[in-house]
Amino acid sequence: MKINHFLTRRHALYLGLGSLAGLGSLTTNKLINSCYANQFIAHQHRSFYVQGNTPLKTRAAKKGIIYGADCGSLELQSQPELQAAVIQECAMLVPGFLKWNMLRPNPASFNFTRGDWYVNFAQKNKMLTRGHTLVWYDALPKWFKETVNKQNARQFLEEHIKKVAGHYAGKMHSWDVVNEAINVPDGLPNGWRKSPWLEFLGTDYIDLAFRITSEVDPQSLLFYNDFGLEYDKPEHEAKRTAVLKLLEKLKSQGTPIHGFGMQSHLDGHETRFNPQKLRNFFRDIASLGLKIMITELDVVDKKLPKDIDLRDRIVASVYEDYLSVALDEKAVIGVITWGLSDRYTWLAEFHRRDDQEPVRLLPLDTQMQRKLSWNAIARTFDNAPQR
Ligand code: XIL
Repeated sequence: MKINHFLTRRHALYLGLGSLAGLGSLTTNKLINSCYANQFIAHQHRSFYVQGNTPLKTRAAKKGIIYGADCGSLELQSQPELQAAVIQECAMLVPGFLKWNMLRPNPASFNFTRGDWYVNFAQKNKMLTRGHTLVWYDALPKWFKETVNKQNARQFLEEHIKKVAGHYAGKMHSWDVVNEAINVPDGLPNGWRKSPWLEFLGTDYIDLAFRITSEVDPQSLLFYNDFGLEYDKPEHEAKRTAVLKLLEKLKSQGTPIHGFGMQSHLDGHETRFNPQKLRNFFRDIASLGLKIMITELDVVDKKLPKDIDLRDRIVASVYEDYLSVALDEKAVIGVITWGLSDRYTWLAEFHRRDDQEPVRLLPLDTQMQRKLSWNAIARTFDNAPQR
């Protein structure tokens, strides 16, 4: 029932936009945009009403859920308004400076200065901290390629995890120990992604990474994190199967893994969302005894209309439709948005709009004001079952 209802609503929206687009050639852009918006609002009786002003972190906490954000860039250090917004809305912070290329200027040294600032900021403001990420094929420093090889890879991996997870031991709620190890199009058995770690250490590199992390930081929850799993598309289906197989293997061999991170970089114009498939995937993961976190939530608005009212309504709908299904699964213990304010989002560069308009895809606008996306997320916390 819910699937049909959802598809009908989203498809109706796009069909509506399609027929309105026909009028476009007859009128000015401005008129088209306001026409889109008026039509949409007139025909779309969706309410994003939220009671009260309670921040996201409090609404989530009432249900036993953690809400937080990544603040990857230096702006948090220099922008008091962003700091105030983060303190107000978030119960968890993900420092953006814990990747190899940020921590390791050369093979022999580690630079924790910026990471430490974030962890201290979080602690001072009673926020939890989440580590991202210890082992990834990407974000490796320039020196990695000419320095790390089959002979010394194990030593580098061990040293890295011991130094980094050891440095923050007892301070991390959770770690993305391994990020993005599956990529079915690479054509390797079981969907493994081509990566230097796989090439040098074989498939056991994941187990190894979790074991070392667990030794140096036994208190932290250890996660495997990945993307491209949300939609009813053949490539997402294949990846869900491969990820599940990997998680089953890790659990069955006794790897100390506690959770799965579903990145959730959603696509604003994608209509192929099938709630039942998401429910089944989460249920399968939960049945392995693993927790789930939504770890990098945002909504790409690249292909959405320019009109701000309309765009905000679509983005908010995407957040609410996705999160309301995800949070139905009680194994989901946290939601992290990949950024908090539209002033600072990686997608401004990574998925720049063709019309050069600023992106509008996070809960707060560039002035730190709450948008419909904030309402949408708040509503899903208010309506979520208690953990
Ligand atoms: C992104 C950061 O947000 C950017 O600031 C950086 O330039 C590139 O990486 N999946 C991940 C994250 O696991 O680490 C990525 O973060 C986004 C995609």
